[in-house]
Amino acid sequence: MDTDIAKLPLHSLNPFMPGAGKQPPELVGRSHDLELMDRMIDRTKLGLLDRGIIYSGLRGMGKTVLLLKLNDMASRQGMATVQIEADGDASSEYDELMHELSLAVMRIRKPDIRQRLSEVFSRVESVSLDFMLGSATVDLRGADAGKQAVRTSSYKLELLVEGLSEELKKDGSGLFLFVDEFQDMSAEVMMTLITVQHKLGQRNLPFYIIGAGLPNLPGVLTKARSYAERLFEYRQIGRLDDTAAADGFQKPARDLGYSFDDKALTRLVDLSKGYPYFIQAYGKAAWDASDSNPITVNAVEQGEPVARAELDQGLYVSRWQRATPLGREYLAAMASLGETCTSAQVAEHMHRNASDLSSIRLSLIELGLIYSPERGRIAFTVPGMDEFIRRDIPTENQSYDGRAQRQIV
Ligand SMILES: Nc1ncnc2c1ncn2[C@@H]1O[C@H](COP(=O)(O)OP(=O)(O)OP(=O)(O)O)[C@@H](O)[C@H]1O
Ligand SMILES: [Mg+2]
Repeated sequence: MDTDIAKLPLHSLNPFMPGAGKQPPELVGRSHDLELMDRMIDRTKLGLLDRGIIYSGLRGMGKTVLLLKLNDMASRQGMATVQIEADGDASSEYDELMHELSLAVMRIRKPDIRQRLSEVFSRVESVSLDFMLGSATVDLRGADAGKQAVRTSSYKLELLVEGLSEELKKDGSGLFLFVDEFQDMSAEVMMTLITVQHKLGQRNLPFYIIGAGLPNLPGVLTKARSYAERLFEYRQIGRLDDTAAADGFQKPARDLGYSFDDKALTRLVDLSKGYPYFIQAYGKAAWDASDSNPITVNAVEQGEPVARAELDQGLYVSRWQRATPLGREYLAAMASLGETCTSAQVAEHMHRNASDLSSIRLSLIELGLIYSPERGRIAFTVPGMDEFIRRDIPTENQSYDGRAQRQIV
């Protein structure tokens, strides 16, 4: 059925999509990454090899949607693709990998290659445990059972990825594994994957890990296997420049026959600070507040508090609530020092010894709220978290419980 866009009410057309992993109406500022993927696919078809890619960046920068887009590009061009999100538990990560690999095989369109790949699965499934682990070492009772199961999964995964890549290569294809939140992956699975990437690269087999995670990800990978440094191309997903940010607002509007006027656009670019999540939130709110075409700066101003509330809910509040009271004190001290600071400055601000605070600092890192961009320094993983804390958190008790509602916890 043909829908006449011009006849639809303005609000129902709103193209902006704030929210984790929500595909934006226009993926701006990523042309280099899309070209890189195009090149990798072309080279794979020719049997030539590339390195995997690791993307790192702060929360809300667009890592997940970029992985989804690259995955889509690869699968449309006949590559076998798998996407998983790490959760830190080795056995569930192995299960998910196996499950997703089997789905990837089923999604292959050509029946003959799908058949050959299914045979690889059956072959790996039928390899006996004794053979893989050496019969003398196998004891499947008690605490050893869990360890053995994880080891078996590691062998199976290696055999499977190797077998699938060999078959795919014969057909000018390859296996692309997209891993989101890679920094959270269990050490066991991370080591297995890096090792497999390394070994298959040496054998010229087309298996690529395309990972994404927080800014500490490159360091975590290198710690797992020192050669990880040479194995991947590392790319930072940072703020968008003003032109890209402006496109992020204007292009989706133009596609629908609307536009933002110059003043509105300048203000929006300013408010977004180049953060993709902010583009979606401010774009959506301005669109909803507008009843004109072009959309004016008035609508932007009217939408601003709505966008702010959307960002508070989507990015900050739940993270703040995750921290313990002492953790919140720590975060508040960091916020008063700006976007980034040193642990020593925080301790001084809190009138405490830095060593007394090291465990709370570690727990905030484990919660994914802060990270260490370089030795001794700490920063928030979410852009604008410092500003949110300074703006919205009462300093006396550092509590925040829901939108515009303050109470002592
Ligand atoms: N290149 C882009 N252009 C415009 N909007 C984007 C772009 N990338 C992401 N967005 C928007 O930003 C928001 C956050 O994207 P996404 O969830 O991919 O970020 P992320 O880096 O994975 O965040 P997190 O670390 O919290 O998982 C989404 O609303 C998405 O639509
Ligand atoms: Mg994400």
